Amino acid sequence: MIKHCLCTVLVLMYCVSYCDGQVFSFRNYETASTEPPLPFPACRADNIECLRRGLRTFFFLMDSRHLGMTPVDPLILNSVAVSVPEEQMSFLLRKVNVTGARWTKLIDRKFHVNNGKNSVRFKSDLHVIGEMIMTLAGRSDPFVSLITIDINDVESNITYAWTGQRGYDNEDYILIGQERVAVRNTRTPSFFLQPTFNETNTDTEGGTQDSYMMERILLSKSAILDHLANEVTVALMHTVVDNFRLFANQIAVKNYYIYNS
Ligand SMILES: *[C@@H]1O[C@H](CO)[C@@H](O)[C@H](O)[C@H]1NC(C)=O
Ligand SMILES: *[C@@H]1O[C@H](CO)[C@@H](O)[C@H](O)[C@H]1NC(C)=O
Ligand SMILES: *[C@@H]1O[C@H](CO)[C@@H](O)[C@H](O)[C@H]1NC(C)=O
Repeated sequence: MIKHCLCTVLVLMYCVSYCDGQVFSFRNYETASTEPPLPFPACRADNIECLRRGLRTFFFLMDSRHLGMTPVDPLILNSVAVSVPEEQMSFLLRKVNVTGARWTKLIDRKFHVNNGKNSVRFKSDLHVIGEMIMTLAGRSDPFVSLITIDINDVESNITYAWTGQRGYDNEDYILIGQERVAVRNTRTPSFFLQPTFNETNTDTEGGTQDSYMMERILLSKSAILDHLANEVTVALMHTVVDNFRLFANQIAVKNYYIYNS
């Protein structure tokens, strides 16, 4: 009896450390064949409504780190930089926290564009917070401020090549090649600056001054914000495609596409 209990506990522990998907590989699915491997049905590749529903679930799977995927909402980026050499200015956005990715919408999906590549178009609304550092030529101290950026209706056009591969389990898997991400902002992002002063840094005057200067420059040169927003969106989409790649390596294609093999 005790032995039986111990055994159950061990199986449960195994399940806790493995079943949350951190180290899943397709071999685990073979042994657990009674469970459907995905919480969404397979779609015909041209059924856009079905793909849209699948994508929604897929974003939740990423955020739960299923199959070792990287969460994208929130997505934390170390830094994003933009420089304007002709104005001798540079901007560094640090400790970037991007939210909203999980509500990304699939606009369309095309096969055989540009020599047989695939293209996927997404639309997202993203909310970005971070610490902005602006450096101007001829001034040794950079300007620092907290910034909030709202990126609305940003479109990402992702193209990549793919090939099919028969796995050791005799199932078909998709290998996703290097992607190219093109981003188009349909609207100029809006922003809000907040001076960085706190308990340790009580220089409220300096903080307010920095935010004021930065605001003037960002308002007069909206291309800077556009650029930063594009860089953030591109970084996000590369992470999303890396997740697709990880997913497609581990889940047989029959589980998410209906196709004739
Ligand atoms: C990122 O921002 C979201 C929403 O503002 C917040 O809930 C989350 O804790 C933040 N994550 C980090 C690591 O700062
Ligand atoms: C997306 O990008 C690809 C490759 O650059 C291009 O061929 C395709 O026309 C673009 N699609 C849209 C809808 O802009
Ligand atoms: C206070 O602000 C300074 C300068 O911006 C920063 O280095 C420090 O980490 C901040 N401290 C807290 C508790 O946020």
